Amino acid sequence: MTEKSATVVGQGYVGLPLAQAAARAGWAVHGLDVTDSLVDALNSGISHVDDLANDDIREMLNLGYRATTDASVVSGSDVVVICVPTPLGEAGAPDLGAVKGASRSIGDNLRPGTTVILESTTYPGTTDSVVKPILEMMSGLAAGTDFQLAYSPERIDPGSEKFGIKNTPKLIGGIDDVSTHAAIAFYGAFVDEPIAMYGTREAETAKLLENTFRHVNIALVNEMAKFCNELNIDIWEVIRGAATKPFGFMKFTPGPGVGGHCIPIDPNYLSYEVRDKLGYPFRFVELAQEINNSMPRYISDRVAELLNEHRKPLNGSDVLLLGVTYKADIADQRESPARPVAELLRARGANIRFHDPMVDVWRLDSGAVPREVSLDDAVSDSDIVVVLQAHESYDLARIAADSKVMFDTRGKSPKPAVRL
Ligand SMILES: NC(=O)c1ccc[n+]([C@@H]2O[C@H](COP(=O)([O-])OP(=O)(O)OC[C@H]3O[C@@H](n4cnc5c(N)ncnc54)[C@H](O)[C@@H]3O)[C@@H](O)[C@H]2O)c1
Repeated sequence: MTEKSATVVGQGYVGLPLAQAAARAGWAVHGLDVTDSLVDALNSGISHVDDLANDDIREMLNLGYRATTDASVVSGSDVVVICVPTPLGEAGAPDLGAVKGASRSIGDNLRPGTTVILESTTYPGTTDSVVKPILEMMSGLAAGTDFQLAYSPERIDPGSEKFGIKNTPKLIGGIDDVSTHAAIAFYGAFVDEPIAMYGTREAETAKLLENTFRHVNIALVNEMAKFCNELNIDIWEVIRGAATKPFGFMKFTPGPGVGGHCIPIDPNYLSYEVRDKLGYPFRFVELAQEINNSMPRYISDRVAELLNEHRKPLNGSDVLLLGVTYKADIADQRESPARPVAELLRARGANIRFHDPMVDVWRLDSGAVPREVSLDDAVSDSDIVVVLQAHESYDLARIAADSKVMFDTRGKSPKPAVRL
């Protein structure tokens, strides 16, 4: 039996774990990327993604995986998966530049019989109205006849020990049944539960519903956290109580804002599309954005208030920020709300410093933030300690006891810490 070959386009947080899963399942995998330094590092066995260690990359290389910038690998591939970034561009509009660029490189090298799958999170219609015409134009082939095309959203949960590619059900919607089944045949080699969807648009929209659901529910508890504080009600106890209901409730917790790629950015793809195509707002997304984006200012106001209670002005105070990544126990800083919190505190005259076991250098638009190496000294030297990310390694009870004032935006610390 000849070995099946796959090219994964984009070797980031999504593409690299996918390349690993496919390689382990016996596929000959090429990791296609546009960044030379990244390709060189991967081929030398060095990982840049939290969930994969250097040993994992070496294992992949032993299995035949190779990273490359040469798009001609597409011509020898049975399956090509697109995992490139989908950021926001000017005025919050979707930026599909990388998806279009990847589609052009694939189309240029596409051979009949190949299955192309888009995984990047995007607005409904992208696979059919953006990717398909580019592939057809560049290759001269017809989708559905000469090659198969499907959409399958990534559902990666960075840093999770419970859910990985294998045990997370995977939605798959093709432009036709043959495409859906071709994509299922690929994922079925390493995903326990591939789920066929009616089509590409339903699969694209399902991903956006998932992310919007989180965004809206986080906004709900963030708004409640604000008024509960004013009403002298402990929001964390409220959530603990509500979460004991075994049906009809799902726990979300407040915090300094939303971070990462999925929650702050992806719902914009849906609201932009609704406004652009239909002319009216997706009100839940816009309200959630407004509330979640207000959290960094709320945090900086609470820090000023707490210092004031201790007869200190924020201006000139030493503020230690603990944990600056967007999620606990991972190094990813993308869209981390720690950035706007730090910028606001600095703009109001605070001397900010940070401690984070996962981050060596932290640079804001206003300049680098000094990094503290010794947590104990930093805590005792600061006027206030602000927990922005409760990494597992932090002994929050001890830090609370040793701090002059401690404000925990994640609600994980015991008294005398003040919780959000
Ligand atoms: N990170 C997550 O947790 C997550 C979860 C679910 C979905 N997603 C989605 O998956 C997609 C990829 O996200 P990511 O986090 O892996 O991004 P990333 O920035 O970590 O990696 C993307 C990679 O694609 C490469 N690239 C850019 N343009 C390219 C091109 N034209 N051809 C080849 N390579 C190109 C970049 O050099 C980079 O290495 C996005 O749409 C994102 O929304 C991400």
